[in-house]
Amino acid sequence: MTTRAQVRGVGHYLPKRVVPNSEFETTIDTSDEWIRSRSGIERRHFAADDETTSDMATAAATRALDMAGLAAQEIDAIIVATSTPDLTFPSVATMVQAKLGMTKGFAFDVQAVCAGFVFALANANALIISGQANRVIVIGAETFSRIMDWNDRTTSVLFGDGAGALVLEAADGTGTNTDRGILATDLNSDGRHKDILYVDGGVSTQSTGHLRMQGKEVFRHAVEKLASTAHTALDKVGLTGDDIDWIVPHQANLRIIKSTAQKMGVGLDRVVLTVQDHGNTSAASIPLALSVGVERGQIKPGNLIVTEAIGGGLAWGAVVLRW
Ligand code: ACO
Repeated sequence: MTTRAQVRGVGHYLPKRVVPNSEFETTIDTSDEWIRSRSGIERRHFAADDETTSDMATAAATRALDMAGLAAQEIDAIIVATSTPDLTFPSVATMVQAKLGMTKGFAFDVQAVCAGFVFALANANALIISGQANRVIVIGAETFSRIMDWNDRTTSVLFGDGAGALVLEAADGTGTNTDRGILATDLNSDGRHKDILYVDGGVSTQSTGHLRMQGKEVFRHAVEKLASTAHTALDKVGLTGDDIDWIVPHQANLRIIKSTAQKMGVGLDRVVLTVQDHGNTSAASIPLALSVGVERGQIKPGNLIVTEAIGGGLAWGAVVLRW
């Protein structure tokens, strides 16, 4: 018998304010046409001034718990992937724990920028298969609008805010790749590339800072590394691109998503796409896409799903799971 971390619930939250590309045309030298053709993004959501990452994370977690039919007190651990916490400390995860009314278990944050949700899922899987937790809420939540330089047209048009959450639960499996739940994970980072995507501020430099990105360089690494990590994860359990029902990629750029899918031999009709509506929501993008994919009726029980993401660090990875 093999223990598997299976999905019991999924949910998401998007802030009310929707910002179409055209809104940027009035403040910076850009166009709806440029943003659409270079990134695939048409609109994004921005959090209200008084809305924080933990507020959005809690809303997404509440919806995932509802779908699972579980109360917060039945959860053993909360992991939040974020690079935009409410405060330097405590963790967003402990704030969510309090807001959910959960007085047991443990909670912590994971920071791997856009790859954060993949890293958090791998951590949750490790906790479950090692018997340290039976039920884990894994959340990706971000307010990237707070770290934009609104005068920088090369970054400000690309990002958005939101949150998504999964409830994972330990279940018995057979140990084969037909089991439901997380089947394989692959995590990587290479700090030599820290200067191509970073925020130029932080606690020890005494500022919040703004996101800085050498877009072309990040693009080049993404195209090369995403298909490779997905193949590595699939190889670990004897699966190939042909077995995939849905790629649920990090939603940064439609051209990166298309190129990765092509390298994996998967048609765009088997890719869950939300980048047009959400922009790049960093660690929130994959759980948001999973939740929207379920809501649209695309993702169904038993489907084989591959998620892959790359972000600042660079950090990148993939998770293979059967829904
Ligand atoms: N509007 C109009 N023109 C623009 C804009 C804009 N918003 N932004 C840049 N341009 C201009 C550039 O100045 C440049 O002009 P120039 O040729 O006169 O110098 C021209 O458009 C082309 O710019 P490129 O940077 O070459 O455009 P590219 O096709 O590479 O697309 C983009 C840029 C969308 C940023 C792309 O490189 C990309 O998506 N990169 C990857 C980003 C990513 O995946 N990030 C994920 C991780 S994010 C995280 O971890 C937080």
